[in-house]
Amino acid sequence: MKIALVGYGKMGHMIEKAALMRGHEVVCTVDPYAKDASCVTAVSEEMLKAIGDSGAEGIIEFSHPASVTNNIFSLVPTGIPLVVGTTGWVDRLEEVRRLVDDTRTAFLYSSNFSVGVNLFYKMVSEAARLMAEFEEYDVAVFESHHNQKADSPSGTGLDIARRIMENLPRKTTLFTDSFTRRPEPSELHLASVRVGSVPGTHTVYFDSAADTIELTHTARTREGFALGAVRALEWLASPGPDGHARIGVYTMNDVFSEV
Ligand SMILES: NC(=O)c1ccc[n+]([C@@H]2O[C@H](COP(=O)([O-])OP(=O)(O)OC[C@H]3O[C@@H](n4cnc5c(N)ncnc54)[C@H](O)[C@@H]3O)[C@@H](O)[C@H]2O)c1
Repeated sequence: MKIALVGYGKMGHMIEKAALMRGHEVVCTVDPYAKDASCVTAVSEEMLKAIGDSGAEGIIEFSHPASVTNNIFSLVPTGIPLVVGTTGWVDRLEEVRRLVDDTRTAFLYSSNFSVGVNLFYKMVSEAARLMAEFEEYDVAVFESHHNQKADSPSGTGLDIARRIMENLPRKTTLFTDSFTRRPEPSELHLASVRVGSVPGTHTVYFDSAADTIELTHTARTREGFALGAVRALEWLASPGPDGHARIGVYTMNDVFSEV
């Protein structure tokens, strides 16, 4: 498959390696600051021309929270299957969904492409569902990442919190700041720390007077994200169960529901 990469930083380079390893061709790399990109621009028209000329059959976007929204709104109308890994834009999801439907494009996003994290999501959902019966347990989420990360809390932390709240009805509000008062029992606290080179650690604490249960996912390298993003594009560009091209907004949940 011919792949274009938008954002050619740390993840862009790793995705290129993963794509080559899986037998794909990287035909275009777009980045306004990376000197080794094949198209050094932040101008949408130039980006679209470079991608169009390259014959790309799929696009993977890992850029910056400040640029991702503009990139999505420029890239979706090309109709080329698009995988987005940059976080920090989901407040615009409904607008993106409308554009994807109008242009009949295949679009997949995830705050975390690692297979392990997607398994962890399922475990957290199940643990929260069990805890719904045991009111003596409180719950909180803690995440730590390297000090170059631009957004906080992490998109993965927010996804974990959403899954807890979907399965544990007594938690109805998410709180991501530091408390200057006592938390309400209905508040789910998601705390973040930024330090050193941590690739990404997420812990869910279930705590009672008698004990604590901790579920932790620790990312060891970032290669798992890159491989997951390439696998996601392969899935997105493959025909759906009805034999037709996939159209619409998908997440890694959809990829996992078919394995
Ligand atoms: N979803 C996941 O699984 C996952 C995993 C890791 C990282 N991420 C996210 O991916 C993003 C990139 O991570 P990274 O480690 O590669 O960061 P990075 O800083 O190494 O690279 C980002 C690149 O984007 C480029 N960029 C800036 N503006 C751009 C634009 N308008 N168009 C194209 N490129 C542009 C920068 O020049 C830089 O080279 C971050 O938002 C990060 O949080 C997501």
